Amino acid sequence: MVTTPSPQPSVRLEDYRPFPFKIPNTELNVVIQQHDVLVTADLHLEPVLQSSEPLLLQGVDLELISVSLDGHALPADAYSVGVDTLRIHVTPNQPFTVTTVCKLDPAANGSLEGLYVSGGMLTTQCEAEGFRRITFHPDRPDVLSCFRVRIEADREHYPVLLSNGNAIDAGPIPQAPGRHAVVWEDPFPKPSYLFALVAGDLREIRDHFTTSSGRRVTLRLHVEAGDEPYTAHAMESLKRSMAWDEQVYGLEYDLDEFNTVAVRHFNMGAMENKSLNIFNSKLVLADAETATDGELERIESVVAHEYFHNWSGNRITCRDWFQLSLKEGLTVFRDQCFTADLHSAALKRIEDAAMLRNTQFREDAGPTAHPVKPDAYQAIDNFYTTTIYEKGAELIRMLRTLLGNERFMRGMRLYFQRHDGEAATTEDFVEAIVEGATEDGTPLNFQPEKFKRWYLQAGTPHVSVDRRWDATSGRLTLTFRQSTAPTPGQPDKFPVVIPVLWAILNPDGRAGDERLLVLDQDQQTVVLEGLASTPHPPALSLFRQFSAPVTWTADQDDDDLFALFAGDSDAFARWDAGQQIWKRLLLARASGGDDSHLERRMLDALSQLLSPSGEKDPAVLATLLAFPGRAELEALQNEADPPALFQAACDLRATLGSQLAEALQRRLASSAESLHAAWPAGQGDRQLTALIWSWLSASGEEGVRDAALAAVSGPSMTLARAALRALQPIDCAQRLQALQVFHDRWQDRPVIFDTWFALEASTPRPDALARVEALLQHPRFDPMAPNSVRAVLGGLVANPSVFHALDGSGYRFMAHQIIAVDGRNPITASRLAKVFSRWHTYGQERKAAVQHALAVLAAADLSTNTREVVTLMQA
Ligand code: TRP
Ligand code: ZN
Repeated sequence: MVTTPSPQPSVRLEDYRPFPFKIPNTELNVVIQQHDVLVTADLHLEPVLQSSEPLLLQGVDLELISVSLDGHALPADAYSVGVDTLRIHVTPNQPFTVTTVCKLDPAANGSLEGLYVSGGMLTTQCEAEGFRRITFHPDRPDVLSCFRVRIEADREHYPVLLSNGNAIDAGPIPQAPGRHAVVWEDPFPKPSYLFALVAGDLREIRDHFTTSSGRRVTLRLHVEAGDEPYTAHAMESLKRSMAWDEQVYGLEYDLDEFNTVAVRHFNMGAMENKSLNIFNSKLVLADAETATDGELERIESVVAHEYFHNWSGNRITCRDWFQLSLKEGLTVFRDQCFTADLHSAALKRIEDAAMLRNTQFREDAGPTAHPVKPDAYQAIDNFYTTTIYEKGAELIRMLRTLLGNERFMRGMRLYFQRHDGEAATTEDFVEAIVEGATEDGTPLNFQPEKFKRWYLQAGTPHVSVDRRWDATSGRLTLTFRQSTAPTPGQPDKFPVVIPVLWAILNPDGRAGDERLLVLDQDQQTVVLEGLASTPHPPALSLFRQFSAPVTWTADQDDDDLFALFAGDSDAFARWDAGQQIWKRLLLARASGGDDSHLERRMLDALSQLLSPSGEKDPAVLATLLAFPGRAELEALQNEADPPALFQAACDLRATLGSQLAEALQRRLASSAESLHAAWPAGQGDRQLTALIWSWLSASGEEGVRDAALAAVSGPSMTLARAALRALQPIDCAQRLQALQVFHDRWQDRPVIFDTWFALEASTPRPDALARVEALLQHPRFDPMAPNSVRAVLGGLVANPSVFHALDGSGYRFMAHQIIAVDGRNPITASRLAKVFSRWHTYGQERKAAVQHALAVLAAADLSTNTREVVTLMQA
């Protein structure tokens, strides 16, 4: 258990109290000077209670110049300034105005929170608690205010001045030649975390969208000079998002202007500030030559995600940060549905399921496991996790599965109507969904109180399915049992409501009717009577559509799995049957043996799939042939051994490439024709080509290695990257050349060049660690850009034999790098620190090596963020 006292007291959900003041209006005057920025804030406050309360405001790294109340400077004994606070001891019991003047130094701010410099521009990031780095403020999401913001700056350096809402005034400043100012007014009350400001010499791409009620919205995208040609995809994505939210949710955009800015230095993907979305530039700048198909789809979905926040997050926000999943889980659910509608719903579901299993399940099984609604935290930034986002989205999807889409959407409509303009809770959400769904008087098929346990309980539930078959009477008896393993701080778990979509395969190999079992007890039994009396029990198609974020084991033998893999009508269940086979094959190889019988059967199944009468859709085929993620495989080993799994995958690819060479070459040839069709067309063929290249290259096929090398200079980034990935694990001449070609071609485009850093760092070579060190000194490496830091250090983690070296050199190196990053950017450092979270699953030697690295970290002078993660991992 933890013995060191935590350096900072936790924030607890149970301590929530409403703020004793309202701030209906906030006025900011931001004066950008050559060496600093002066921020004058007028907070127009109203006491909520009759009695006069002290006013407590937050402020970090601010130089306070003056404080006044209703226009009168406060005497020194009327207020006190703490480390991160300003307290005004006595306040009037009627509306009053507090004015503060603060000086900021954005150039010295490497945290990328608050106001900071990126390239030549000034930009902000306020979620979750960055506004307190701009001015003294309560800075909590339940204090909603209408903002009016005046920005003043030198016209030549900062011709573009942006903030939220509408520009209501702009012009030169007569008494200050060369300077200008713009005034922005946002009519919608918003919490401080949605505030944004951008100033810089930016180029604008302009378009428009007319909403269903006829409002003409000006869409402006702002990028650095030279980046203009790479903005069309993001702009089209935005228009598609706006149309989708109208069609599916009836939700329209609510202002005349919508701005997007691309910023190179950014901690996360993007940010939904009201009418001024700010994006990591890698999620804006893209076309087919510079981005892969996967990146184009991701950009489309992140643009949608941020846009959808305008309703799920901005119009309805969170009461406190424990409710974070209220906006994030819901908005991920909405962006997942958007992508499903625009592309292939079946493949999108498989992608999301694979991602959940490899990231969220891993988090849920480790030291940083937490519920979708946590009850305590030290640093809120540590809770922007896959549990809050992706598991949160799964909870909403389960509600839809339980209620059916029509009733679910009635609930959604009620939620958006009832809570518009409010700061709400996840309980408010579930209640609105249930009430809206049952408006027509239909009864519920689940208990909401039991469903809400999903929000409170950490850990991935496990379901076991027991199958009894009475061949003579054709009676099938299935017993479902659920359990959830203890997680840190939560030893006792209770049954949750698990929607199980399932079917049986009929003797002809086709799936029968799909059924919904609402599993909400420890154990439930289902009986099917009158089935055809075959000797072998019917195969079970389980958790179709991945109907719940759980793991399961079931009575499924090899015959069942191959039957499902060949012909289940549910794409997820079919894919999952294949994944189970792949897992067995890879685990057998990683443990030194091989399952030659199963491998032979799989080769037969694959020959069939690859044949002209097999799977026609190249994207489906590529998806069925993709190996499970390393995290899933590690979780199935007694002692996780990442290098052994890496080697197993290399060896299996080589075997598959040589055993299936002819069939693979045939499919390669038939995909060639569509290879250069413009996204989204042709992506299935490119995906299949990528997979076949990796198998055939592994098997030593020189012609394929040469074709891959040639693609690195070709017109498609998808194929270039496919080539690099295929060659990367192989020590061959083409690999070196390919990396060099990519380097020379893209070295002047930082967003793309990060990929080269990642590839270099993840290429298995004897001197890899020394090369990683050299990358950090590379003239084009920018230590202030989280993208570059993650490329190099993430690349190292993706290089199992180097990162997991038994002498501990990889872990030690990583610990020192995390300490260095933490000194300037705690958000990025604490996210990186989670690379150590699997240590307790490793063998003895690696365990000891990670513990040593954690001790190095713990002994350093860490931020609260990184300290919290390290302490949890050491517990
Ligand atoms: N709300 C953002 C999103 O999910 C997340 C985000 C962007 C964020 N930047 C951040 C969270 C910085 C914490 C810190 O769309
Ligand atoms: Zn979000």
